[in-house]
Amino acid sequence: MMLETIEFKTCLSKFASGVTVITTCNKENEKVGVTISAFSTLSLSPPLILFCLGKKAFTINEFKECNKFAVCMLAEKQQQISNQFAYSEDPWQGVESFKGEYGSDIIANCIAYLECEKYQEIDGGDHIIFVGLVLNAKTLSNSAPLIHYQSDYFSLKENKLITS
Ligand SMILES: Cc1cc2nc3c(=O)[nH]c(=O)nc-3n(C[C@H](O)[C@H](O)[C@H](O)COP(=O)(O)O)c2cc1C
Repeated sequence: MMLETIEFKTCLSKFASGVTVITTCNKENEKVGVTISAFSTLSLSPPLILFCLGKKAFTINEFKECNKFAVCMLAEKQQQISNQFAYSEDPWQGVESFKGEYGSDIIANCIAYLECEKYQEIDGGDHIIFVGLVLNAKTLSNSAPLIHYQSDYFSLKENKLITS
């Protein structure tokens, strides 16, 4: 029996994740960024991470052409930034950023960021899996992260589960 798309999507939406903005620059050296929740750690040694970007995404060519990118992990107060980098034609409008140690554009007030060299590009159906070798990892604050769950945003408060 064929897998129903709606069932597949509903099932995937039950997996809560953080939200990142992945940045790079184009041939004209202009800033590029896109909101991504399909981000994952991959390897500690060497230090590798990955993210998945749709082949039809507006920014796909820039990420295929770039040789480095940065992952900015958003704080709970950065919902607006998440929406801008997902839906706006001018996502950097009003968004403060600074240069990381390796020259990547980093969203100001993000919780943490990773500057990466592109390590591998893997075909993943209607997405491309971009693997990055992490050159620089910086934590900027202990702010609560922005959480994406069931197509909505949530905040992770101090509801730490008690383990005994
Ligand atoms: C919270 C959130 C998470 C997202 N995560 C991903 C993702 O992991 N991969 C992806 O390709 N697009 C993701 N998107 C969609 C992209 O940010 C963006 O909207 C899409 O690439 C735009 O496609 P377009 O340029 O063709 O309009 C996400 C959007 C939101 C709001």
